[in-house]
Amino acid sequence: SEKFNGLELPASADFHVHLRDGAMMEAVVPTIRAGGVDTVYVMPNLVPPITSSAAALAYKQRLQAQDKSINYLMTLYLHDSIIPAAIRGAKAQGIVGIKSYPAGVTTNSASGVYSYEPFYPVFKKMEEEGLVLNLHGECPSDCSKDITVLNAESSFLPTLKDLHAKFPKLKIVLEHCTTAAAVAAVNECGPNVVGTITAHHLFLTIDDWADDPFSYCKPVAKLPSDREALIKAAITSTGKFFLGTDSAPHDISAKKGGKGKTAAGVFTQPYATQLVLSAFELAITRGVITSSQVSADLLRGFLGGFGRKFYGIAESMEKIVLTKGTETVGEAFMGNGIEVVPFRKGLATWSVSW
Ligand code: NCD
Ligand code: DOR
Ligand code: ZN
Ligand code: ZN
Repeated sequence: SEKFNGLELPASADFHVHLRDGAMMEAVVPTIRAGGVDTVYVMPNLVPPITSSAAALAYKQRLQAQDKSINYLMTLYLHDSIIPAAIRGAKAQGIVGIKSYPAGVTTNSASGVYSYEPFYPVFKKMEEEGLVLNLHGECPSDCSKDITVLNAESSFLPTLKDLHAKFPKLKIVLEHCTTAAAVAAVNECGPNVVGTITAHHLFLTIDDWADDPFSYCKPVAKLPSDREALIKAAITSTGKFFLGTDSAPHDISAKKGGKGKTAAGVFTQPYATQLVLSAFELAITRGVITSSQVSADLLRGFLGGFGRKFYGIAESMEKIVLTKGTETVGEAFMGNGIEVVPFRKGLATWSVSW
């Protein structure tokens, strides 16, 4: 894809990021622009989770104090304390969506959802008010149901279909799709259902995270055929699929905890745009796609335009330029008492300038 050397694009939008709080937030927010991104959809899984509009707006102010030039889109953490009567006010206060985490499946999901049914009245109000439901689409591991991290997503897909059937006007995002089955399920749903795809799942398969905590995330990367289905979904997207990196920083100490103590999450924020370019190049090298299939229009859409359209957000007025020189991914990003190791550290990367 040398043809993209020097390409100018609108600033990217990243529709799924973990920016944390405190010292980690201070370390991570400055890397958003490095990744070519001016708009971020901010996940609410802090400790404690962001379950009210007031907490989300206070969090947004802390983010703006780090970099007020970024457009932060806020989502709440689906929780018993969110009642239908609160939805209209959330919308009026600028909250964009609500993310559901199944209990216990990933970082800070202890207060997550056990069953969706109790939330039907909330979903009804969200449908009426135009709030987006962001689904972490995994079933918790359960030996009695033969569910592990490998089939946790495919086991969830009937729930996606069911929610879409019950609330056909509700805008739903199946976050961080990792399987060919998820791509198919999203495609089978109507236009109100879309999927985000991360940068790292365009690279990874099971073998990568099996022996590397820095490639371990939830949902875990699956088979090579799943990865190739994600690549194809991305490069043929006309709006159903767009970028949400799920960049999820963890201090290096949390990545070396051993069994049961290895935090799930891959840190991609400083290279959000660059990684997508590299992933497409590698897929061309593998013969999965051809260079002519990757167009500048597709990049404009996948890297931001499609997501902005789904969420009803104006196109960015800012431009970035992609170049391919000699830059390599940094070894570590440091903060106050924090060291975060980025995905593909030390490897060649595209460069972004503003
Ligand atoms: C994270 C945590 O505690 O897991 N904090 C947070 O989400 N507020 C920080 C981290 O993962 O390093
Ligand atoms: O890998 C992940 N890390 N997946 C998630 O869903 C959460 C995230 C995190 O917060 O670290
Ligand atoms: Zn998630
Ligand atoms: Zn996430």
